[in-house]
Amino acid sequence: MAAATPSFESATRGAKSSAALEFLKSSPKKLLINGKWVPSKSGKTFETLNPANEQVLALVAEGDKADVDEAVKHARKAYEDGKWANLSPHARTRFLLKIADLIEQHAEELAELESLDNGKPIFESKNIDIPGAAETFRYYAGFATKIYGETNPSEPTMFNYTLREPVGVCGQIIPWNFPLLMAAWKIAPALACGNVSILKPAEQTPLTALRLGELILESGLPPGVVQIITGFGPGAGSAIAEHPDIDKVAFTGSGEVGKLILKASAGNLKRVSLELGGKSPNIIFPDADMPQAVFGLNQGQVCCAGSRVFVQEGVYDQFTESLSKMAQTLTLGNPLDPNTKMGPLVSKEQHDRVKGYLKTGKEEGAKAMTGGEAGKQESGYFIQPTVFSGVNNQMKIAREEIFGPVASAIKFKDENDVVVQGNDTDYGLAAAVWTKDINRALGIARKLKAGTVWINTYGQIDPMSPFGGYKQSGFGRELGRYAIDLYTQIKSVYAKIG
Ligand code: NAI
Ligand code: MG
Repeated sequence: MAAATPSFESATRGAKSSAALEFLKSSPKKLLINGKWVPSKSGKTFETLNPANEQVLALVAEGDKADVDEAVKHARKAYEDGKWANLSPHARTRFLLKIADLIEQHAEELAELESLDNGKPIFESKNIDIPGAAETFRYYAGFATKIYGETNPSEPTMFNYTLREPVGVCGQIIPWNFPLLMAAWKIAPALACGNVSILKPAEQTPLTALRLGELILESGLPPGVVQIITGFGPGAGSAIAEHPDIDKVAFTGSGEVGKLILKASAGNLKRVSLELGGKSPNIIFPDADMPQAVFGLNQGQVCCAGSRVFVQEGVYDQFTESLSKMAQTLTLGNPLDPNTKMGPLVSKEQHDRVKGYLKTGKEEGAKAMTGGEAGKQESGYFIQPTVFSGVNNQMKIAREEIFGPVASAIKFKDENDVVVQGNDTDYGLAAAVWTKDINRALGIARKLKAGTVWINTYGQIDPMSPFGGYKQSGFGRELGRYAIDLYTQIKSVYAKIG
């Protein structure tokens, strides 16, 4: 067990969970392959930081192509053995329920690890990420026994039926904004359908996926059913996307990488599902109650963030004024402090990126009514919550995903105008309408080209309801029964009668 780094004390400032600290101290963290923790073949490791103070939390094995090859070899064997795919569905249910229970039993520890590694305020980790991950496993636990085929009215001399079978070895590449939750969205449905998984967490936030790996071993899941390969995008991620013996890749992340994955998948025509970003319209009519949480969760680093705030012209000044006032009440600080409303962004890269957009916004002629700068903290990747007014839908800050606590407020005239402007984007992940007029809300919900539409609320996500994008926000739907389509393939069987 390597010693903790000298900065460990300050890196983990505010942490209360002794289990989380113990987990961090057993660094470097290893890869999970075939039920065992192993170092990367190259022996290389990388650092994962606490973005609130830029100190090292732990060293993590840097997996690359050689490790992915090894993981695929064992995953393939575990799949073909049938020890998971041919297990009774009732038994699969029990494993997934057990994993959900273990997540709940370790909720405190997982929440602290998530906030330390990602920077999200502890109230979010505790109330959203960790319970959401447990609920996702529980929801798909129920599905293992409800994956149906059909019988078809073929010729009278034929008995024709369909079977839904697993796809096989699934590569699952996830981002850093909801690390444990995204791991659950990927692993739970894949396993419910009888697949095996190779999960690659984001290099910025590998910790909770690794702790999940330990809990999965504790659940007694057969070795080889879940592998966890930490590492970088080019390296571990690209090796998964290109691998000739992986049957399916599920990816959540940037559009740019989504396109690379789709290209790489052509080698063996693996199935692909992509959940990419968004630039979601958040539409406010004068009769709406002041929407809460315009900045969303996780410092605005949310794929479905309502970052284009459309306000009807009569109330634009008044609305942007009160939005700015609200933004000023969001206390920045140590994510582990329960009073903190907003933590740092996840990384220096993300911090630089968002600062770049703040500069661009000003150059384009938008006005930062509040914020517009990095946070004033001594260290850490903080950004002041920012409200840009005077934005039009053609500006870069209205077209590109900023992924930070930045709202771009755009004026609209009427219903038609806002539908046209709202849909004038490359993306289509989500949208929201705020109004007391239900006819107007339902009418607009139909016209918006987005995978999810919220009315008088924002960001509600339930494992039972599908989630995914129109246009360049990706394809394939996760969650709900739709994830069963992603993780099964259909066989039609004809039997001659008589
Ligand atoms: P990214 O798309 O590079 O990272 C997401 C995942 O893909 C990580 O696990 C990464 O290691 C992996 N990856 C990177 N390059 C890869 C490759 N060539 N082959 C296979 N896997 C690869 O996203 P990044 O750079 O961290 O963030 C950039 C922007 O992407 C953000 O500012 C945001 O706009 C968007 N984004 C969207 C997310 C969403 O939820 N849809 C989540 C994260 C980022
Ligand atoms: Mg980190």
